[in-house]
Amino acid sequence: MKFFIDTANLQHIKTAQDLGILDGVTTNPSLMAKEGITGAAAVKAHYKAICDIVEDKVSAEVLSTTYDEMLAEAKELAALDPKIVVKVPMIADGLKLIKTLTGMGIRTNCTLIFSPGQALLAAKAGATYVSPFLGRLDDICQDGLNLIQEIREIFDNYDFHTEILAASIRSPLHITYCAKIGADVVTSPLDSILRLLKHPLTDNGLAQFIKDSEGLK
Ligand code: E4P
Repeated sequence: MKFFIDTANLQHIKTAQDLGILDGVTTNPSLMAKEGITGAAAVKAHYKAICDIVEDKVSAEVLSTTYDEMLAEAKELAALDPKIVVKVPMIADGLKLIKTLTGMGIRTNCTLIFSPGQALLAAKAGATYVSPFLGRLDDICQDGLNLIQEIREIFDNYDFHTEILAASIRSPLHITYCAKIGADVVTSPLDSILRLLKHPLTDNGLAQFIKDSEGLK
């Protein structure tokens, strides 16, 4: 399973990259705004800064919602760096755009997926990734993990090459459940990734080993 980090915070991206487990980054307009980035030039510079930290797969989201405008944006984003994956919303024009970009050899991430049918359409259009938002489904008392499972089954039935990128992660348990289901990628905030590291028995065991090693040096 691939690990992406879901943030536009450069320090968090560096920290995850330094752990040696990072395969990519996802951002969205809200995450960019949270970092105080304003204006098209600053947005582009920020994507470049992210690309300089990681090896590949930086999702950059289009901001418009009509086919022609999104296509122009997508071309600009893709031209920024070969590591860019263009993130496209799950709307009719978005679907058309995914088909076009796939034909142009530009990788896409279809975002805001909340049903198996939406994932199926995005895969048919050739999306590189679909992003089901499991935390936001959990937030409204629907089973986000079940959505991941349903998409897994559909993609396996037809051997779609589109990867399931489990998004809107709220806890380390979400990550391990996604791994059990067979999500291809999980994109998570740094906090949940770091929490995977922790276990009180590891801490206690290490403290004891350090104590007992004093006479061995
Ligand atoms: C995915 O690409 C999105 O950026 C993200 O996972 C949304 O998560 P949220 O529901 O925590 O905003």
